[in-house]
Amino acid sequence: MTDTVLVTGISTGFGQEIALMLGEKGYTVYGTVRDMSLRPKLEAMAAKRNADLRVVQMDVTDQSSIDAAVNKILEECGSIYAVVNNAGVLLRGYFEDLAEDEIRNLFNVNFFGALAVTRAVLPAMRQARRGRVVIISSVAGKIGAPSGSAYSACRFAQEGFAESLRQEIQPLGVTVSLIEPGITRTETWQRGTASGVGRNAANPDSPYYAWFKQAQTLFYNAMESSKITVEDVAGAVFRAISEPKPRWRYVVGPRAKLVISARRYIPGELFERFYFGEVVKRITTPAR
Ligand SMILES: NC(=O)c1ccc[n+]([C@@H]2O[C@H](COP(=O)([O-])OP(=O)(O)OC[C@H]3O[C@@H](n4cnc5c(N)ncnc54)[C@H](OP(=O)(O)O)[C@@H]3O)[C@@H](O)[C@H]2O)c1
Repeated sequence: MTDTVLVTGISTGFGQEIALMLGEKGYTVYGTVRDMSLRPKLEAMAAKRNADLRVVQMDVTDQSSIDAAVNKILEECGSIYAVVNNAGVLLRGYFEDLAEDEIRNLFNVNFFGALAVTRAVLPAMRQARRGRVVIISSVAGKIGAPSGSAYSACRFAQEGFAESLRQEIQPLGVTVSLIEPGITRTETWQRGTASGVGRNAANPDSPYYAWFKQAQTLFYNAMESSKITVEDVAGAVFRAISEPKPRWRYVVGPRAKLVISARRYIPGELFERFYFGEVVKRITTPAR
């Protein structure tokens, strides 16, 4: 009997590769999608890689779909060894340009969604006295940036949740690990303005519009030149699931490692003056 892993949000990006890689490594993977018409395509990809992937429907903002998926897995497998909370959305825009409903939706998916899925699987892990909870966070969970106020707030919240939960459940044999990737080229960046950018942020009448455009250029350049691959992120998840003593955090990508280390080791105000100062200068200096 192989260990069972639940991965949320496998239609594209990190989640897809995480599900396929863990399947290839011998786990029985249940991967969730909102749109079940993707199932044949995903199963065909899994078959090519000899991965045991079972596609189930789940919207992480819909409790009944979470319960149905988790019950199905428990009925079929009897246990869930690990959960990978990957499903997430992006929201960019200067704070004044972000609407309350957009921020609430972001938290509902990325934060409350991960909490609900974790809550649904924990009783089985607690009873089994073994388990792994993995949360895909971000370098934005460690560091804020212009037009990232809502996204960073959400990831910071997730970091605090994970850090506390780990201390609560580690004595029961269940570990919690955060994966903190830097910017990576995935479908999330191609989903268009509708999902990743606040409605008003894209409005030329916004007082922040010129700065937002420059911030977007900076982020897109970082994404275009990013060396991080979905395989790097999936590899970090595999380590968090398979290592005998998984780490609290797996930072993915050289730039993310550099920035997070700089923040840790350079005295606060000095770091803020140089790093944040440079970011703000680049965004607010008119392009020539
Ligand atoms: N790419 C990056 O630069 C980066 C860096 C650090 C962290 N992250 C985080 O890593 C995670 C994956 O990102 P990605 O780049 O792989 O993005 P992606 O390709 O856009 O994938 C996001 C996944 O989440 C699913 N999802 C969205 N809303 C959902 C909901 N309500 N219920 C269930 N599933 C839902 C999507 O499914 P649908 O197809 O149904 O929408 C999709 O499968 C996200 O949490 C993201 O914030 C990304």
